[in-house]
Amino acid sequence: MLNGKKVLFSGMQSTGNLTLGNYLGALKNWVTLSDEYECFYSVVDMHSITVRQDPAELRRRARALLTLYIAAGLDPEKNCIYYQSQVTGHAELAWILNCYTYMGELQRMTQFKDKSAKHADNINAGLFTYPVLMAADILLYQADVVPVGKDQMQHLELTRDIAQRFNGIYGDVFTVPEAYIGKVGARIMSLQDPSKKMSKSDENPNASIYLMDDPDTIMRKFKRAVTDSEAAVRYRDEQPGIKNLIDIYCACTGKTPEEVEREFDGKGYGEFKPAVGEAVVDVLRPLQARVADLEKDKAYIDSVIKNNAEKAQYFSNKTLRKVQKKVGFPERIR
Ligand code: TYM
Repeated sequence: MLNGKKVLFSGMQSTGNLTLGNYLGALKNWVTLSDEYECFYSVVDMHSITVRQDPAELRRRARALLTLYIAAGLDPEKNCIYYQSQVTGHAELAWILNCYTYMGELQRMTQFKDKSAKHADNINAGLFTYPVLMAADILLYQADVVPVGKDQMQHLELTRDIAQRFNGIYGDVFTVPEAYIGKVGARIMSLQDPSKKMSKSDENPNASIYLMDDPDTIMRKFKRAVTDSEAAVRYRDEQPGIKNLIDIYCACTGKTPEEVEREFDGKGYGEFKPAVGEAVVDVLRPLQARVADLEKDKAYIDSVIKNNAEKAQYFSNKTLRKVQKKVGFPERIR
């Protein structure tokens, strides 16, 4: 508990262009939950360097992501919105937790397997221990709840295991966090291959809707989306492309799959696909406008960055000092 509320932590990598999957699977839920919890939302730029980045581009993207958090509706006076790399406790706790995490556990992580296949020329130790840094992010703030898309579930299970293991040795040090997976939009699939998740690192730009895509591009991508030859708008596993489009439509309009089936009963994909495109444009257009406005106010964004980094540093130090004491490090001299 913090200020009488339960604590929420989540983060996104400042790598590549954010997709509709990131928005519907995570960011949208962050906004819904933000009143109920004491929230920490991090731009996890330390995670980003597990794959090679252009330094100037990484800095630019990190700032754009932080701006997007605010544009999506997170009030930086009420929510702690900050860069992971500006708060020293993440790396310090990650080192300690590395010593309480087994190689075998990390070897089982599907994201590690996927990313090491994709970046076979750079399978660095950071890529391997990435989930431990993620556990440190969450445990550092004693988070009760972590809203993420389904693809992060395995990392969250590992975080819980590490917390329980540590607590088993040293007493109740960490809050054991729960995942929050939204009812709709928790796994948005590629528009070109509905068996794969929509991903910022997809090489085919038609596979993903990027949050900054203009309306024409969005409409075009939906018209080209891979579907099937059934020609019926039905929410079923046998029609994965259509099921994904229904999920997107529901997440953007608040309708249920049954309502969508009724709405498009007897109508073909030629009508359904543009309707999904329009629903997405309606959600993204105001978001893009707010980003453009905020980007003009450099001094405001700078002040958010400074104030929130200090706040995050302050709260995270409490847990870090407790952990350092538990494992037997000497007290800090001020
Ligand atoms: P990242 O940056 O890949 O994704 C950010 C969030 O977006 C969700 N997401 C999706 N949801 C639905 N459909 C999709 N196609 C889709 N693609 C991505 C992700 O589940 C995530 O919630 N390791 C994390 C970042 C991280 C983190 C943390 C998250 C670092 N530390 C601590 C929570 C707590 C990641 O790479 O997310």
